[in-house]
Amino acid sequence: MAKFNRYLITAALPYANGPVHIGHLAGCYIPADIYVRYLRAKKADVKFIGGTDEHGVPITIKAMKENVTPQDIVDKYHKIIYDSFTDMGISFDIFSRTTKQVHHETAADFFKTMYDKGLFEERESEQFFDETANVFLADRYIVGTCPKCGNPNAYGDQCERCGSSLSPDELIEPRSTLSNAVPVKKKTKHWYMPLQNYEPFLKEWLLEGHKEWKNNVYGQCKSWIDGGLQSRAMTRDSSWGIQVPLPDAEGKVLYVWFDAPIGYISATKELTANWADYWCKDDTKLVHFIGKDNIVFHCVIFPAMLKGHGGYVLPENVPANEFLNIEGEKVSTSRNWAVWVHDYVKDFPDQQDTLRYVLTSIAPETKDSDFTWKDFQQRNNSELADIFSNFVNRTMVLMHKLCGGKVPPFHADLKDEKDDALFADLKASIQKIEDSLENFRFREALAEVINISRSGNKYLQDREPWNLVKEMAKDPSLAAGYQKRIDNCLHMCLQLTANLAILANPFLPFTAKKICHMLKVVDRMLEWENAGSLKLVNVGYPLREPEYLFGKIEDAKIEEQIEKLKAGLVKPVVAPVETKVKEMKPEIQFDDFAKIDLRVGTILEAEKVPKADKLLKLLVDIGTEKRTVVSGIAEHFAPEEVVGKQVTLVANLAPRKMRGIESQGMILMAENAAGKLVFVNPDAAVDAGSEVK
Ligand code: 2FM
Ligand code: ZN
Repeated sequence: MAKFNRYLITAALPYANGPVHIGHLAGCYIPADIYVRYLRAKKADVKFIGGTDEHGVPITIKAMKENVTPQDIVDKYHKIIYDSFTDMGISFDIFSRTTKQVHHETAADFFKTMYDKGLFEERESEQFFDETANVFLADRYIVGTCPKCGNPNAYGDQCERCGSSLSPDELIEPRSTLSNAVPVKKKTKHWYMPLQNYEPFLKEWLLEGHKEWKNNVYGQCKSWIDGGLQSRAMTRDSSWGIQVPLPDAEGKVLYVWFDAPIGYISATKELTANWADYWCKDDTKLVHFIGKDNIVFHCVIFPAMLKGHGGYVLPENVPANEFLNIEGEKVSTSRNWAVWVHDYVKDFPDQQDTLRYVLTSIAPETKDSDFTWKDFQQRNNSELADIFSNFVNRTMVLMHKLCGGKVPPFHADLKDEKDDALFADLKASIQKIEDSLENFRFREALAEVINISRSGNKYLQDREPWNLVKEMAKDPSLAAGYQKRIDNCLHMCLQLTANLAILANPFLPFTAKKICHMLKVVDRMLEWENAGSLKLVNVGYPLREPEYLFGKIEDAKIEEQIEKLKAGLVKPVVAPVETKVKEMKPEIQFDDFAKIDLRVGTILEAEKVPKADKLLKLLVDIGTEKRTVVSGIAEHFAPEEVVGKQVTLVANLAPRKMRGIESQGMILMAENAAGKLVFVNPDAAVDAGSEVK
């Protein structure tokens, strides 16, 4: 810890145009909260910054559609989002808003400083404009007929039916989603950040200096930077946002992705007069918790802004998570395929820790993961109830029954190897938990907490104090010696329970508090330095009656949730694709098939092949070696989308040169009648190099 004297932890500012769902919690807010609670328990100087992102086109559009002001929209959702986080125990030090005065001033000053340093290019370009609604249109707000599959409702950036990436120019009969008017091209002036000028800095600071970042994050940044950075507009035409602080900038506002991350700075200003200690001193550790769709903004663009402006620390780590699917399908807010946090809190009052537990156990730390209600029930019932809660409950019940409701003494003369082993296990687990937490491996850390309660259950089972008491009743001459053994057993279990409260606290804060209440200890006991002590509850001290920490969740409750999810689903209004299945090729013999060596590979790197629209150059790990493969998928996938994906590779295909690059294999893709491509990959992760048969 020596290198850093304070911590600044941020969690992405969600757009205030809708409520938050459990994917948000799993991807960013729960991991951030666990980390912060751990740091606080270690008595580190830490500030946890959050808030809502209240500018940007989606908010103005939503307001237009609902015939209210953008301010109405953000006021409504700021409150819903704030309540959801508070209910789930996400312990921000401040939860601010980007519509606040302090933020407008901070962001405008930031822009002006960069402008004065000559860090922007001023450029004119033509953009689509809706003359009826009188606004410039982002690509998403233009629809038309897809040139590839004929879907009449394709968006200006993508066709949701065939999956093709599009530009508005390609749409047949384009129209504005706001007014149905045909968009026209109009000249407009904007200020661009030449990101290519930051390439040497990004290569040195990030690609050389932060090789320890998570693979999914590092890989995405690398393919962005290696793919060549370009100038990017940092302003927009809109009446909603932060005015560009220049004299000739009427109707121009800061791009939402320029202003939002500065929101972390303004919120810190609002929180403390010492904000500059956190943002400007080198011994601050700045960590951004985000979801994978925010990686490039936090790892490339914002650091370039901070560097350009000067005077600020740069992020030390950005442990972004991948996405959480629901019941096997991608979350879709427009289709209402999501589990909303405010609904969960209503349907499962006082069960916040169950959700925190499940979402941490299945967190998409290295790849997308899946939430299912059945799995939620199973983890609650067989891990939290049967193992964790069961141990604490048995300890408390037995202590009341066999030790008069008071903490029994520990008789050192009877200490044996089982006590030593339990203590050694505890110490080893603490070490593992610390190591995992400090490296953002929260799933692993939480599993270790459950392991401690597992050891506790085993210890109780081996000692069988309930049998000792029966033996004592049969033969009173055993009473004195056996009572001592019972005392020792429950003394150890109570100390272990207190340790569990400390170690579970970052993950399950509501439960840790309940344990403190039962043990009649003050919250200060939860400080991390107490972990590993066997003197946490005092001998002779009377304790409270036990209360169940986690009960079982019944099938009916789970069925209800599954029904609710399905019933809420909004069906998409897209015409179905006509499927024309290609004719089958002539029959082959098994021997023909057996000649092909198919292997599972993991894509490590991806970049566009210069001057070849269709080709991506990939580096694929197949276990025994890394292969360069040139694949014709560039029109379907951006390089950063494919890094980390598992694929099926024809591994013994003769190498072939494409655009001067030797391709050492071929990746299998499935293609539908409309030309949409998807990877053919295993439905669960397997080792690279695994054979496909
Ligand atoms: O993806 C989002 O929801 C963005 N509003 C996140 C912004 S994070 C930060 F830059 F403010
Ligand atoms: Zn299409």
